[in-house]
Amino acid sequence: MAKLTILGCITALLTILGAISSHADTLVERGAYLMNGIVACGNCHNTRGPEGRFVEGMELAGGMVIAEKPFTALVPNITPDMATGIGAWSNAEIITAIRDGRRPDGSLIGPPMPFSQYRGMSDSDVKAIVAYLRQVPAVANKVGKSEYRMELPPAWGPPVGSVADVSTDDQIAYGGYMAGPLGHCIECHTPMEKGRFDFDNKAFAGGLHLPVGPELTLTTANITQDKETGIGAWSDAEIKAAITQGVRPNGAQLHPIMPSGFYASMTEADVDALVAFLRTVKPVVNAVR
Ligand code: HEC
Ligand code: HEC
Repeated sequence: MAKLTILGCITALLTILGAISSHADTLVERGAYLMNGIVACGNCHNTRGPEGRFVEGMELAGGMVIAEKPFTALVPNITPDMATGIGAWSNAEIITAIRDGRRPDGSLIGPPMPFSQYRGMSDSDVKAIVAYLRQVPAVANKVGKSEYRMELPPAWGPPVGSVADVSTDDQIAYGGYMAGPLGHCIECHTPMEKGRFDFDNKAFAGGLHLPVGPELTLTTANITQDKETGIGAWSDAEIKAAITQGVRPNGAQLHPIMPSGFYASMTEADVDALVAFLRTVKPVVNAVR
């Protein structure tokens, strides 16, 4: 049997500790990359000032009001503040909130948090997001309760359980994972039919109405490959500029509710994958503007 010296034990222990802490570092790094990029929870959960601009020092501190006919949703504070945020929730409880849409007390979280998509988030990505959430500054900001004037379903689906990673080696599959589970482009860019997203007929065809202020309702763009009413005639560079800089080929600036400010920090490889996926989206004729 091999003799374990004290020095040997210490070296082994240090190696294990090193592996744990570098694993934690890479988790937070991946979380930061996702949260400040494709995932962009802050597009809803950051506190906004009067002109819709993010208030400094209040990342993820909530307070935005999303008013639609069937509901008035108040976006909660998801900083680690113990009293007004989610600091008291366990990692597993936060993962259940993100993917299953359920709080620790068992209640269902309402729309428009995009659960149809977040259900498909991989275990490692959702863990990275939780690691990031744990280290943002705690902000005390009490947000009131949402009001739903519609019946919420008993659940957003069967318990999610475990979801495997999507390999970046398959560019189109990974692009689809970003356009769906990670970035929910598909939810913002698909219209509703009788209160449900019409993913079957109009995926990515635009026409969803987003109330972005008391006076302004935006209609999302058709980003299918249709050449007339979608983006089928745009070059790859033009699509990338719209995603990461928020400009159309004609130079017009997109409204910032299309979260290009977040997408700007995505890697070239990820934006390429997104575009490669968008090229595979079935053309749908839907003139939204
Ligand atoms: C489209 C807007 C939107 C996006 C994007 C969004 N959320 Fe939410 N989220 C909401 C709203 C609205 C609620 C509250 C719904 C309610 O009151 O039932 C909520 C609730 C939550 C809750 C429950 C908090 C509580 O105290 O009840 C958590 C946790 C949460 N979101 C985390 C996230 C994370 C993490 C992301 C990104 C992966 C995210 N959300 C993306 C709108 C959004
Ligand atoms: C919060 C909702 C939201 C999300 C999420 C979102 N978009 Fe958008 N997007 C919009 C809106 C609204 C517009 C139109 C803005 C305007 O009219 O100024 C738009 C415009 C666009 C355009 C320009 C199309 C045109 O004809 O002008 C492209 C391309 C686009 N989005 C791609 C994407 C991709 C790819 C993703 C995911 C990585 C995404 N969007 C996520 C809301 C969203």
